[in-house]
Amino acid sequence: MWENYPVIKEELSAFEEYLKSKLSSRNEFLHLATNSVVLSGGKRLRPAFTIIAALHGDYRREVVFPAAASVEILHAATLIHDDIIDNAKTRRGQMTLSEKHSINLAVYTGDYLLTKSLRLLIETGLKPERLDIVAKAMSLLCEGEIEQYLGKYSIASTMNYLKRIMGKTGVLFSASLVLGARAAGLSDESTKFFARFGNSFGVAFQIRDDLLDILSNQKAEGKPVLNDLREGIATLPVILAAQRDENFRSMVNEFFDGKGDQEDLLKVLTSAGGVRESQRLMERYIQKCRLYLEKVPQTPFTGALTELVDWL
Ligand code: IPE
Ligand code: IPE
Ligand code: MG
Ligand code: MG
Repeated sequence: MWENYPVIKEELSAFEEYLKSKLSSRNEFLHLATNSVVLSGGKRLRPAFTIIAALHGDYRREVVFPAAASVEILHAATLIHDDIIDNAKTRRGQMTLSEKHSINLAVYTGDYLLTKSLRLLIETGLKPERLDIVAKAMSLLCEGEIEQYLGKYSIASTMNYLKRIMGKTGVLFSASLVLGARAAGLSDESTKFFARFGNSFGVAFQIRDDLLDILSNQKAEGKPVLNDLREGIATLPVILAAQRDENFRSMVNEFFDGKGDQEDLLKVLTSAGGVRESQRLMERYIQKCRLYLEKVPQTPFTGALTELVDWL
């Protein structure tokens, strides 16, 4: 992915070593569990954002690496907890912790990773008020997840959906970039546009993930298909199709009651425009990303962010 950006590639590979070195624990279970989760092939998008934002200013590994590790480990912790709540059996093509061991051990491991993340944040040496962004992101992430949970088995409005995914996904991407920008001493003005870019990227990214839950085949993504709806969560394609087709709305409610056929549902969802309209909305957030990127200081690394947007 970073073929055109050898500096970023090198930083990310040095970061990988750094991350590994931070995962030791005296407790054998925690040691194995945290290593197996954190080193199971995540895309490292959030640490990449921290590193790339920092490359736009005064780049120092000793500040940037703990910051990047902190956001990646926080992300890993949220995924462990998310998989418990979502009853997910697999993640990144492997059995989830809760499936392999137990929910209890998975909760502890997630909590343990949160403490690791916190300690890494302190290791950055940044002033507490500069780190506040991460604490805020965590609060918003929890709020987004809880709102989604409380809204289970109902079809939210598009506005509410967007608010939720901004919380559960957008803010952590945003915080990753802000942390990198702050680690490198960027101006508040530049930092603001990195923050906005992160929020919009996160929203587009989550819409893409929600589309994949409907369109993908299980093998390629390593996650089961239509898992969201089976768990009672109506994501954007379902929301938009239901707004356009009352019959589809009834089908979804029947599906929530355990009735109806998955293939029929997918067919009507698509013919009602659920997929097409979701792609259109995702495209709007992709456009926002491009606009915000024009406002950050232009460096040889800015193009790497454009490539990530193109990949969406
Ligand atoms: C997964 O995030 C959770 C969502 C926000 C959809 P990623 O797709 O970044 O997860 P990994 O770390 O690469 O597996
Ligand atoms: C992403 O939500 C999880 C967080 C942002 C905490 P999802 O539940 O949609 O993500 P996947 O599909 O399990 O990766
Ligand atoms: Mg999930
Ligand atoms: Mg999902």
